Amino acid sequence: MAVQQVNETRLLRKFNHPNVVRYYLADSDLDFVYIALELCEGCLVDYIEKTPVGEKFLKLHSDSGKHFKKVILNDVLSGLNYLHDLDIIHGDIKPQNILLRKVKQRVNLVKDLYFEGVLSDFGLSLEIDEGRRSKTAHDNLIGSDGWRAKEVLTMLEKASDKSIKKKSKKKVKGTKAVDIFSFGCVMQYVMTEKSKQYYMHPFGDINHRNYNIRAEERRSYLSSLPKYKSWKPNLNDVLADMLIEICVLGNPELRPTTKEIAKNPFFWDATTMIQFLERVFNDIKSASKDSGFGKILEDNWSKYHKQGFTKEIREAFNYNTKHNSKSCSPHKLCNFLRILRNIRQHYQEIVARSSKEPICKALSDCLGQGGDEDFSRYFLEKVAGALPVVYLSFIKHPRIDSYHSYYSLEDLNSEVSEERFKYQWTTLDKVLLRQDNDGGQVQRRSRTPSGQGSSESSNGQERSQTPNANGKGRSRTPSESRHGK
Ligand SMILES: Nc1ncnc2c1ncn2[C@@H]1O[C@H](COP(=O)(O)OP(=O)(O)O)[C@@H](O)[C@H]1O
Ligand SMILES: [Mg+2]
Repeated sequence: MAVQQVNETRLLRKFNHPNVVRYYLADSDLDFVYIALELCEGCLVDYIEKTPVGEKFLKLHSDSGKHFKKVILNDVLSGLNYLHDLDIIHGDIKPQNILLRKVKQRVNLVKDLYFEGVLSDFGLSLEIDEGRRSKTAHDNLIGSDGWRAKEVLTMLEKASDKSIKKKSKKKVKGTKAVDIFSFGCVMQYVMTEKSKQYYMHPFGDINHRNYNIRAEERRSYLSSLPKYKSWKPNLNDVLADMLIEICVLGNPELRPTTKEIAKNPFFWDATTMIQFLERVFNDIKSASKDSGFGKILEDNWSKYHKQGFTKEIREAFNYNTKHNSKSCSPHKLCNFLRILRNIRQHYQEIVARSSKEPICKALSDCLGQGGDEDFSRYFLEKVAGALPVVYLSFIKHPRIDSYHSYYSLEDLNSEVSEERFKYQWTTLDKVLLRQDNDGGQVQRRSRTPSGQGSSESSNGQERSQTPNANGKGRSRTPSESRHGK
Protein backbone atom coordinates (compact mmCIF):
# COMPACT_ATOMS: atom_id res chain seq x y z
CA MET A 1 0.00 0.00 0.00
CA ALA A 2 2.71 2.45 0.93
CA VAL A 3 4.48 1.97 -2.38
CA GLN A 4 1.31 2.75 -4.19
CA GLN A 5 0.54 5.77 -2.06
CA VAL A 6 4.03 7.14 -2.59
CA ASN A 7 3.43 6.79 -6.30
CA GLU A 8 0.12 8.61 -5.94
CA THR A 9 1.76 11.43 -3.99
CA ARG A 10 4.53 11.75 -6.56
CA LEU A 11 1.94 12.14 -9.31
CA LEU A 12 -0.22 14.57 -7.33
CA ARG A 13 2.81 16.81 -6.75
CA LYS A 14 3.38 16.99 -10.46
CA PHE A 15 -0.15 18.02 -11.40
CA ASN A 16 -1.27 21.55 -11.99
CA HIS A 17 -4.60 21.71 -13.76
CA PRO A 18 -8.03 23.14 -12.86
CA ASN A 19 -9.69 19.76 -13.42
CA VAL A 20 -7.35 17.74 -11.28
CA VAL A 21 -7.69 17.71 -7.49
CA ARG A 22 -5.33 20.13 -5.72
CA TYR A 23 -2.66 18.58 -3.59
CA TYR A 24 -1.30 20.28 -0.45
CA LEU A 25 1.03 17.94 1.37
CA ALA A 26 1.70 14.40 2.46
CA ASP A 27 3.06 12.78 5.59
CA SER A 28 3.47 9.23 6.70
CA ASP A 29 3.95 6.99 9.70
CA LEU A 30 4.91 3.35 9.76
CA ASP A 31 1.51 2.17 8.56
CA PHE A 32 0.01 4.93 6.48
CA VAL A 33 0.66 7.76 4.10
CA TYR A 34 -1.54 10.81 4.74
CA ILE A 35 -2.38 13.02 1.80
CA ALA A 36 -3.88 16.49 2.25
CA LEU A 37 -6.05 17.55 -0.69
CA GLU A 38 -8.43 20.41 -1.32
CA LEU A 39 -11.85 19.69 0.14
CA CYS A 40 -14.47 19.27 -2.55
CA GLU A 41 -18.26 19.23 -2.19
CA GLY A 42 -18.55 15.56 -2.96
CA CYS A 43 -18.34 13.25 -5.94
CA LEU A 44 -20.60 12.75 -8.93
CA VAL A 45 -22.45 9.99 -7.11
CA ASP A 46 -23.37 12.46 -4.36
CA TYR A 47 -24.72 14.89 -6.91
CA ILE A 48 -26.63 12.45 -9.05
CA GLU A 49 -27.85 9.93 -6.52
CA LYS A 50 -27.76 11.21 -2.97
CA THR A 51 -28.72 14.83 -3.16
CA PRO A 52 -32.42 15.52 -2.79
CA VAL A 53 -33.45 17.37 -5.91
CA GLY A 54 -33.53 21.10 -5.45
CA GLU A 55 -31.95 21.07 -2.04
CA LYS A 56 -28.25 21.77 -1.95
CA PHE A 57 -27.49 21.57 -5.62
CA LEU A 58 -29.28 22.70 -8.73
CA LYS A 59 -32.07 20.66 -10.17
CA LEU A 60 -30.87 18.36 -12.90
CA HIS A 61 -33.91 18.96 -15.03
CA SER A 62 -33.58 22.71 -15.11
CA ASP A 63 -31.81 24.51 -17.93
CA SER A 64 -28.74 24.72 -15.73
CA GLY A 65 -29.06 20.98 -15.17
CA LYS A 66 -28.76 20.39 -18.89
CA HIS A 67 -25.69 22.57 -18.98
CA PHE A 68 -24.33 20.89 -15.89
CA LYS A 69 -24.03 17.60 -17.72
CA LYS A 70 -22.11 19.03 -20.63
CA VAL A 71 -19.94 21.27 -18.51
CA ILE A 72 -19.00 18.55 -16.03
CA LEU A 73 -18.27 16.07 -18.81
CA ASN A 74 -16.15 18.71 -20.49
CA ASP A 75 -14.26 19.20 -17.21
CA VAL A 76 -13.62 15.47 -16.90
CA LEU A 77 -12.43 15.40 -20.49
CA SER A 78 -10.06 18.35 -19.93
CA GLY A 79 -8.59 16.69 -16.84
CA LEU A 80 -8.15 13.45 -18.73
CA ASN A 81 -6.60 15.21 -21.68
CA TYR A 82 -4.10 16.83 -19.30
CA LEU A 83 -3.14 13.45 -17.83
CA HIS A 84 -2.86 11.83 -21.25
CA ASP A 85 -0.63 14.66 -22.46
CA LEU A 86 1.62 13.83 -19.52
CA ASP A 87 1.49 10.17 -20.61
CA ILE A 88 -0.39 9.15 -17.53
CA ILE A 89 -3.26 6.67 -17.56
CA HIS A 90 -5.70 7.45 -14.74
CA GLY A 91 -6.77 3.82 -14.64
CA ASP A 92 -9.82 4.21 -12.44
CA ILE A 93 -12.25 6.70 -13.99
CA LYS A 94 -15.68 6.27 -12.41
CA PRO A 95 -18.27 8.59 -10.82
CA GLN A 96 -16.82 8.10 -7.32
CA ASN A 97 -13.46 9.47 -8.47
CA ILE A 98 -14.86 12.60 -10.08
CA LEU A 99 -15.21 15.27 -7.44
CA LEU A 100 -17.18 18.50 -7.60
CA ARG A 101 -15.44 21.68 -6.58
CA LYS A 102 -17.56 24.60 -5.56
CA VAL A 103 -16.68 27.79 -7.41
CA LYS A 104 -18.10 31.26 -6.93
CA GLN A 105 -19.15 31.73 -10.49
CA ARG A 106 -18.35 30.02 -13.73
CA VAL A 107 -17.05 32.55 -16.15
CA ASN A 108 -18.56 32.63 -19.64
CA LEU A 109 -20.77 29.68 -19.01
CA VAL A 110 -23.95 29.41 -17.05
CA LYS A 111 -24.38 32.09 -14.48
CA ASP A 112 -25.92 29.95 -11.76
CA LEU A 113 -23.72 26.92 -12.15
CA TYR A 114 -21.30 26.68 -9.29
CA PHE A 115 -19.40 23.49 -9.76
CA GLU A 116 -16.45 22.19 -11.69
CA GLY A 117 -15.51 18.59 -12.20
CA VAL A 118 -12.19 17.48 -10.74
CA LEU A 119 -10.36 14.19 -11.26
CA SER A 120 -9.08 12.50 -8.15
CA ASP A 121 -7.82 9.18 -6.79
CA PHE A 122 -4.61 8.39 -8.62
CA GLY A 123 -3.95 5.25 -6.64
CA LEU A 124 -4.24 3.09 -9.74
CA SER A 125 -2.63 5.49 -12.21
CA LEU A 126 0.23 4.50 -14.44
CA GLU A 127 2.92 6.41 -16.22
CA ILE A 128 3.69 5.40 -19.75
CA ASP A 129 7.37 5.23 -20.58
CA GLU A 130 8.51 7.87 -22.98
CA GLY A 131 7.98 7.09 -26.62
CA ARG A 132 5.55 4.28 -25.99
CA ARG A 133 1.83 4.47 -26.42
CA SER A 134 1.07 1.79 -23.93
CA LYS A 135 2.18 0.39 -20.64
CA THR A 136 2.97 -3.26 -20.29
CA ALA A 137 0.34 -5.06 -18.31
CA HIS A 138 0.88 -4.57 -14.71
CA ASP A 139 -0.88 -5.70 -11.58
CA ASN A 140 -1.89 -2.12 -11.09
CA LEU A 141 -3.91 -1.73 -14.26
CA ILE A 142 -7.15 -3.00 -12.93
CA GLY A 143 -9.61 -0.19 -12.47
CA SER A 144 -12.91 -0.82 -10.72
CA ASP A 145 -15.46 -3.47 -11.39
CA GLY A 146 -18.07 -2.39 -13.89
CA TRP A 147 -16.00 0.45 -15.33
CA ARG A 148 -13.20 -1.64 -16.82
CA ALA A 149 -12.67 -1.99 -20.54
CA LYS A 150 -12.84 -5.31 -22.31
CA GLU A 151 -9.07 -5.52 -22.75
CA VAL A 152 -8.55 -4.95 -19.02
CA LEU A 153 -10.96 -7.79 -18.23
CA THR A 154 -9.04 -10.02 -20.64
CA MET A 155 -5.77 -8.92 -19.09
CA LEU A 156 -6.99 -9.74 -15.60
CA GLU A 157 -8.19 -13.14 -16.72
CA LYS A 158 -4.83 -13.90 -18.28
CA ALA A 159 -2.99 -12.65 -15.24
CA SER A 160 -4.92 -14.99 -12.99
CA ASP A 161 -4.70 -17.93 -15.39
CA LYS A 162 -1.80 -20.04 -14.21
CA SER A 163 -1.76 -22.06 -17.43
CA ILE A 164 -0.57 -19.01 -19.38
CA LYS A 165 3.17 -18.57 -19.33
CA LYS A 166 4.57 -15.45 -17.74
CA LYS A 167 6.26 -14.42 -20.98
CA SER A 168 3.05 -14.16 -22.99
CA LYS A 169 1.32 -12.39 -20.13
CA LYS A 170 3.78 -9.56 -20.52
CA LYS A 171 2.61 -8.85 -24.04
CA VAL A 172 -0.75 -7.50 -22.96
CA LYS A 173 -0.75 -3.73 -22.91
CA GLY A 174 -2.87 -1.15 -21.21
CA THR A 175 -3.36 2.11 -23.05
CA LYS A 176 -4.96 5.49 -22.59
CA ALA A 177 -7.99 3.94 -24.31
CA VAL A 178 -8.92 2.25 -21.01
CA ASP A 179 -9.70 5.71 -19.63
CA ILE A 180 -11.73 6.54 -22.73
CA PHE A 181 -13.84 3.43 -22.17
CA SER A 182 -14.55 4.46 -18.59
CA PHE A 183 -15.21 8.03 -19.71
CA GLY A 184 -17.90 6.70 -22.09
CA CYS A 185 -19.52 4.81 -19.20
CA VAL A 186 -19.40 7.90 -16.96
CA MET A 187 -20.90 9.93 -19.77
CA GLN A 188 -23.94 7.66 -19.95
CA TYR A 189 -24.22 7.77 -16.15
CA VAL A 190 -24.28 11.57 -16.20
CA MET A 191 -26.56 11.92 -19.22
CA THR A 192 -29.21 9.57 -17.91
CA GLU A 193 -29.28 11.24 -14.48
CA LYS A 194 -30.27 8.00 -12.83
CA SER A 195 -33.64 8.22 -14.52
CA LYS A 196 -35.41 4.90 -14.44
CA GLN A 197 -36.42 5.43 -18.04
CA TYR A 198 -32.91 5.04 -19.35
CA TYR A 199 -30.05 2.64 -19.21
CA MET A 200 -27.70 4.44 -16.87
CA HIS A 201 -24.75 2.27 -17.76
CA PRO A 202 -23.92 1.24 -21.33
CA PHE A 203 -23.49 -2.33 -20.19
CA GLY A 204 -26.38 -2.74 -17.80
CA ASP A 205 -26.51 -3.44 -14.08
CA ILE A 206 -23.51 -4.45 -12.04
CA ASN A 207 -24.28 -8.17 -12.17
CA HIS A 208 -24.22 -8.31 -15.93
CA ARG A 209 -21.78 -5.61 -16.88
CA ASN A 210 -18.67 -7.68 -17.30
CA TYR A 211 -20.55 -10.22 -19.37
CA ASN A 212 -21.92 -7.47 -21.60
CA ILE A 213 -18.59 -5.69 -21.85
CA ARG A 214 -16.95 -8.89 -23.06
CA ALA A 215 -19.80 -9.57 -25.48
CA GLU A 216 -19.66 -5.93 -26.62
CA GLU A 217 -23.38 -5.62 -25.99
CA ARG A 218 -23.85 -1.95 -25.41
CA ARG A 219 -27.17 -0.38 -24.55
CA SER A 220 -27.92 2.89 -26.21
CA TYR A 221 -29.65 4.75 -23.42
CA LEU A 222 -32.26 6.28 -25.66
CA SER A 223 -33.20 2.93 -27.16
CA SER A 224 -34.59 1.90 -23.79
CA LEU A 225 -37.45 4.34 -24.18
CA PRO A 226 -40.78 2.92 -25.29
CA LYS A 227 -41.95 3.64 -28.79
CA TYR A 228 -44.25 6.53 -27.98
CA LYS A 229 -45.71 8.17 -31.02
CA SER A 230 -45.11 11.56 -29.56
CA TRP A 231 -41.57 10.78 -28.49
CA LYS A 232 -38.98 13.09 -29.95
CA PRO A 233 -35.34 12.57 -29.20
CA ASN A 234 -33.45 15.56 -27.92
CA LEU A 235 -30.48 16.60 -30.04
CA ASN A 236 -28.12 16.62 -27.07
CA ASP A 237 -29.08 13.07 -26.14
CA VAL A 238 -28.72 11.86 -29.73
CA LEU A 239 -25.23 13.32 -29.98
CA ALA A 240 -24.30 11.95 -26.56
CA ASP A 241 -25.49 8.48 -27.47
CA MET A 242 -23.44 8.54 -30.66
CA LEU A 243 -20.32 9.66 -28.81
CA ILE A 244 -20.70 7.12 -26.00
CA GLU A 245 -20.99 4.40 -28.62
CA ILE A 246 -17.49 5.01 -29.98
CA CYS A 247 -15.91 5.59 -26.55
CA VAL A 248 -16.94 2.17 -25.28
CA LEU A 249 -16.08 0.09 -28.34
CA GLY A 250 -14.53 -3.26 -27.55
CA ASN A 251 -11.56 -2.58 -29.79
CA PRO A 252 -9.38 0.02 -28.00
CA GLU A 253 -7.80 1.09 -31.30
CA LEU A 254 -11.15 2.40 -32.50
CA ARG A 255 -11.86 4.52 -29.45
CA PRO A 256 -11.25 8.25 -29.93
CA THR A 257 -8.56 10.13 -28.03
CA THR A 258 -9.41 12.95 -25.62
CA LYS A 259 -8.57 15.47 -28.34
CA GLU A 260 -10.85 13.77 -30.81
CA ILE A 261 -13.67 13.65 -28.27
CA ALA A 262 -13.26 17.37 -27.63
CA LYS A 263 -14.06 17.99 -31.31
CA ASN A 264 -17.19 15.86 -31.26
CA PRO A 265 -20.45 17.76 -31.98
CA PHE A 266 -21.73 16.81 -28.53
CA PHE A 267 -19.33 19.43 -27.17
CA TRP A 268 -20.12 22.08 -29.79
CA ASP A 269 -21.96 25.18 -28.69
CA ALA A 270 -24.96 26.56 -30.58
CA THR A 271 -22.81 28.97 -32.60
CA THR A 272 -20.51 26.21 -33.81
CA MET A 273 -23.47 24.05 -34.80
CA ILE A 274 -25.18 26.81 -36.76
CA GLN A 275 -21.97 27.97 -38.43
CA PHE A 276 -21.07 24.42 -39.40
CA LEU A 277 -24.44 23.86 -41.07
CA GLU A 278 -24.31 27.17 -42.92
CA ARG A 279 -20.83 26.48 -44.17
CA VAL A 280 -21.84 23.02 -45.30
CA PHE A 281 -24.82 24.49 -47.13
CA ASN A 282 -22.62 26.98 -48.96
CA ASP A 283 -20.17 24.27 -49.91
CA ILE A 284 -22.92 22.04 -51.21
CA LYS A 285 -24.23 24.89 -53.31
CA SER A 286 -20.86 25.76 -54.78
CA ALA A 287 -19.63 22.18 -55.34
CA SER A 288 -19.76 20.87 -58.86
CA LYS A 289 -22.91 18.90 -59.45
CA ASP A 290 -21.08 15.73 -60.36
CA SER A 291 -19.47 15.43 -56.93
CA GLY A 292 -22.58 13.40 -56.08
CA PHE A 293 -22.53 14.63 -52.52
CA GLY A 294 -26.02 16.15 -52.63
CA LYS A 295 -27.40 12.74 -53.48
CA ILE A 296 -25.47 11.03 -50.68
CA LEU A 297 -26.84 13.55 -48.22
CA GLU A 298 -30.45 13.24 -49.34
CA ASP A 299 -30.25 9.45 -49.49
CA ASN A 300 -28.97 9.34 -45.93
CA TRP A 301 -31.62 11.79 -44.81
CA SER A 302 -34.63 10.20 -46.52
CA LYS A 303 -34.64 7.27 -44.20
CA TYR A 304 -34.83 9.46 -41.12
CA HIS A 305 -37.30 12.00 -42.30
CA LYS A 306 -39.83 10.48 -44.62
CA GLN A 307 -42.57 12.81 -43.43
CA GLY A 308 -40.48 15.95 -43.97
CA PHE A 309 -39.82 18.72 -41.51
CA THR A 310 -42.85 20.96 -42.07
CA LYS A 311 -44.54 19.99 -38.84
CA GLU A 312 -41.56 20.74 -36.63
CA ILE A 313 -40.65 24.11 -38.07
CA ARG A 314 -44.02 25.13 -39.43
CA GLU A 315 -43.55 28.89 -38.98
CA ALA A 316 -40.19 28.91 -40.75
CA PHE A 317 -41.47 26.74 -43.57
CA ASN A 318 -44.54 28.94 -44.10
CA TYR A 319 -42.41 32.05 -44.11
CA ASN A 320 -40.08 30.55 -46.68
CA THR A 321 -42.95 29.44 -48.92
CA LYS A 322 -44.41 32.92 -48.86
CA HIS A 323 -41.22 34.87 -49.42
CA ASN A 324 -39.30 32.68 -51.84
CA SER A 325 -40.44 32.15 -55.34
CA LYS A 326 -38.71 28.74 -55.55
CA SER A 327 -40.81 25.83 -54.36
CA CYS A 328 -39.12 24.05 -51.52
CA SER A 329 -39.68 20.38 -50.79
CA PRO A 330 -39.92 19.67 -47.06
CA HIS A 331 -38.35 16.26 -47.64
CA LYS A 332 -34.89 17.50 -48.55
CA LEU A 333 -32.25 18.18 -45.96
CA CYS A 334 -30.69 20.74 -48.24
CA ASN A 335 -33.92 22.72 -48.11
CA PHE A 336 -33.93 22.58 -44.36
CA LEU A 337 -30.43 24.08 -44.41
CA ARG A 338 -31.54 26.68 -46.95
CA ILE A 339 -34.46 27.80 -44.77
CA LEU A 340 -32.20 28.00 -41.73
CA ARG A 341 -29.74 30.19 -43.62
CA ASN A 342 -32.40 32.42 -45.20
CA ILE A 343 -34.19 33.11 -41.98
CA ARG A 344 -30.97 33.86 -40.16
CA GLN A 345 -29.91 36.27 -42.88
CA HIS A 346 -33.25 38.07 -42.86
CA TYR A 347 -34.07 37.87 -39.20
CA GLN A 348 -33.89 41.60 -38.50
CA GLU A 349 -36.34 42.31 -41.33
CA ILE A 350 -38.62 39.58 -40.05
CA VAL A 351 -38.68 41.16 -36.60
CA ALA A 352 -39.29 44.61 -38.10
CA ARG A 353 -42.29 43.30 -40.05
CA SER A 354 -43.75 41.32 -37.19
CA SER A 355 -46.34 43.96 -36.30
CA LYS A 356 -47.73 43.91 -39.82
CA GLU A 357 -47.34 40.36 -41.04
CA PRO A 358 -48.77 37.48 -38.99
CA ILE A 359 -46.25 35.05 -40.47
CA CYS A 360 -43.35 37.23 -39.30
CA LYS A 361 -44.97 37.60 -35.91
CA ALA A 362 -45.33 33.82 -35.56
CA LEU A 363 -41.71 33.28 -36.49
CA SER A 364 -40.28 35.99 -34.29
CA ASP A 365 -42.34 34.66 -31.37
CA CYS A 366 -40.52 31.33 -31.81
CA LEU A 367 -37.07 32.74 -32.35
CA GLY A 368 -37.06 35.49 -29.73
CA GLN A 369 -33.86 37.50 -29.81
CA GLY A 370 -32.65 35.45 -32.74
CA GLY A 371 -29.36 34.46 -31.14
CA ASP A 372 -27.57 31.23 -32.01
CA GLU A 373 -29.08 29.53 -28.96
CA ASP A 374 -32.56 30.52 -30.14
CA PHE A 375 -31.91 29.24 -33.66
CA SER A 376 -30.45 26.04 -32.33
CA ARG A 377 -33.42 25.49 -30.02
CA TYR A 378 -35.95 26.11 -32.77
CA PHE A 379 -34.30 24.43 -35.75
CA LEU A 380 -31.81 21.86 -34.52
CA GLU A 381 -33.54 20.59 -31.42
CA LYS A 382 -36.85 20.26 -33.23
CA VAL A 383 -35.32 18.41 -36.15
CA ALA A 384 -32.86 16.43 -34.07
CA GLY A 385 -31.61 14.25 -36.92
CA ALA A 386 -30.42 17.13 -39.10
CA LEU A 387 -27.08 17.94 -37.50
CA PRO A 388 -26.06 14.29 -36.91
CA VAL A 389 -26.92 13.31 -40.49
CA VAL A 390 -25.02 16.26 -41.98
CA TYR A 391 -22.07 15.61 -39.66
CA LEU A 392 -21.84 11.91 -40.51
CA SER A 393 -22.51 12.38 -44.24
CA PHE A 394 -20.17 15.31 -44.74
CA ILE A 395 -17.08 13.21 -44.13
CA LYS A 396 -17.61 12.06 -47.75
CA HIS A 397 -17.64 15.58 -49.14
CA PRO A 398 -14.77 16.54 -51.51
CA ARG A 399 -13.98 19.64 -49.44
CA ILE A 400 -13.85 17.85 -46.13
CA ASP A 401 -10.11 18.58 -45.82
CA SER A 402 -10.83 22.20 -45.00
CA TYR A 403 -13.03 21.25 -42.04
CA HIS A 404 -10.25 20.83 -39.46
CA SER A 405 -12.05 22.85 -36.85
CA TYR A 406 -15.03 20.48 -36.91
CA TYR A 407 -13.45 17.08 -37.43
CA SER A 408 -10.37 15.57 -35.86
CA LEU A 409 -7.37 14.76 -38.02
CA GLU A 410 -8.03 11.09 -37.42
CA ASP A 411 -11.59 11.53 -38.71
CA LEU A 412 -10.29 13.18 -41.84
CA ASN A 413 -7.59 10.66 -42.60
CA SER A 414 -7.86 7.20 -41.34
CA GLU A 415 -9.63 3.94 -41.87
CA VAL A 416 -10.29 3.96 -38.16
CA SER A 417 -12.67 6.84 -38.65
CA GLU A 418 -14.62 4.96 -41.30
CA GLU A 419 -15.25 2.19 -38.79
CA ARG A 420 -16.20 4.69 -36.14
CA PHE A 421 -18.63 6.46 -38.42
CA LYS A 422 -20.33 3.14 -39.14
CA TYR A 423 -20.93 2.64 -35.45
CA GLN A 424 -22.34 6.13 -35.14
CA TRP A 425 -24.76 5.55 -38.02
CA THR A 426 -25.95 2.41 -36.29
CA THR A 427 -26.59 4.36 -33.11
CA LEU A 428 -28.49 6.97 -35.07
CA ASP A 429 -30.70 4.22 -36.50
CA LYS A 430 -31.38 2.92 -33.02
CA VAL A 431 -32.22 6.32 -31.71
CA LEU A 432 -34.12 7.93 -34.55
CA LEU A 433 -35.70 4.94 -36.24
CA ARG A 434 -36.15 3.06 -32.99
CA GLN A 435 -34.41 0.09 -34.51
CA ASP A 436 -33.35 -2.55 -32.08
CA ASN A 437 -35.85 -0.95 -29.76
CA ASP A 438 -36.79 -3.21 -26.94
CA GLY A 439 -39.16 -0.79 -25.27
CA GLY A 440 -37.40 -1.17 -21.97
CA GLN A 441 -37.76 -4.93 -21.94
CA VAL A 442 -34.10 -5.78 -22.01
CA GLN A 443 -34.50 -8.73 -19.74
CA ARG A 444 -36.23 -10.64 -22.47
CA ARG A 445 -33.23 -10.63 -24.72
CA SER A 446 -31.48 -13.87 -24.25
CA ARG A 447 -28.10 -12.82 -25.59
CA THR A 448 -27.93 -9.66 -23.56
CA PRO A 449 -28.61 -10.22 -19.99
CA SER A 450 -28.17 -6.58 -19.19
CA GLY A 451 -30.59 -5.08 -16.76
CA GLN A 452 -32.28 -1.82 -17.36
CA GLY A 453 -33.09 1.22 -15.36
CA SER A 454 -30.97 2.10 -12.47
CA SER A 455 -30.45 0.85 -9.05
CA GLU A 456 -26.88 1.71 -8.36
CA SER A 457 -26.39 2.50 -4.74
CA SER A 458 -24.18 5.24 -3.50
CA ASN A 459 -21.06 3.15 -3.42
CA GLY A 460 -21.45 2.59 -7.12
CA GLN A 461 -22.61 -0.98 -6.93
CA GLU A 462 -26.00 -1.67 -8.40
CA ARG A 463 -28.37 -3.74 -6.40
CA SER A 464 -28.71 -7.21 -7.68
CA GLN A 465 -31.49 -7.54 -10.19
CA THR A 466 -33.30 -10.58 -11.39
CA PRO A 467 -31.57 -12.08 -14.38
CA ASN A 468 -33.45 -11.93 -17.65
CA ALA A 469 -36.92 -13.30 -17.77
CA ASN A 470 -36.01 -16.49 -19.53
CA GLY A 471 -33.73 -17.38 -16.72
CA LYS A 472 -30.55 -17.13 -18.74
CA GLY A 473 -28.03 -14.44 -18.59
CA ARG A 474 -26.48 -14.87 -15.22
CA SER A 475 -23.10 -13.29 -15.47
CA ARG A 476 -20.34 -15.73 -16.21
CA THR A 477 -17.82 -13.54 -14.53
CA PRO A 478 -16.97 -13.99 -10.94
CA SER A 479 -17.69 -10.73 -9.24
CA GLU A 480 -14.45 -8.91 -8.93
CA SER A 481 -13.87 -6.46 -6.24
CA ARG A 482 -11.39 -3.70 -6.49
CA HIS A 483 -7.90 -4.90 -5.83
CA GLY A 484 -4.74 -3.23 -4.98
CA LYS A 485 -5.89 -0.49 -2.68
N1 LIG B 1 -10.74 15.93 -1.68
C1 LIG B 1 -11.94 15.43 -1.45
N2 LIG B 1 -13.00 16.22 -1.19
C2 LIG B 1 -14.23 15.69 -0.96
N3 LIG B 1 -14.50 14.38 -0.96
C3 LIG B 1 -13.50 13.52 -1.22
C4 LIG B 1 -12.17 13.99 -1.47
N4 LIG B 1 -11.38 12.92 -1.69
C5 LIG B 1 -12.18 11.84 -1.58
N5 LIG B 1 -13.45 12.18 -1.30
C6 LIG B 1 -14.59 11.25 -1.13
O1 LIG B 1 -14.10 10.01 -0.64
C7 LIG B 1 -14.33 8.96 -1.58
C8 LIG B 1 -13.14 8.02 -1.63
O2 LIG B 1 -11.93 8.72 -1.90
P1 LIG B 1 -10.80 8.18 -2.88
O3 LIG B 1 -9.67 9.14 -2.87
O4 LIG B 1 -11.42 7.93 -4.20
O5 LIG B 1 -10.33 6.86 -2.17
P2 LIG B 1 -10.56 5.32 -2.45
O6 LIG B 1 -9.21 4.81 -2.69
O7 LIG B 1 -11.20 4.80 -1.23
O8 LIG B 1 -11.44 5.18 -3.66
C9 LIG B 1 -14.60 9.68 -2.90
O9 LIG B 1 -15.43 8.93 -3.77
C10 LIG B 1 -15.26 10.97 -2.46
O10 LIG B 1 -16.64 10.75 -2.25
MG1 LIG C 1 -11.84 6.27 -5.30
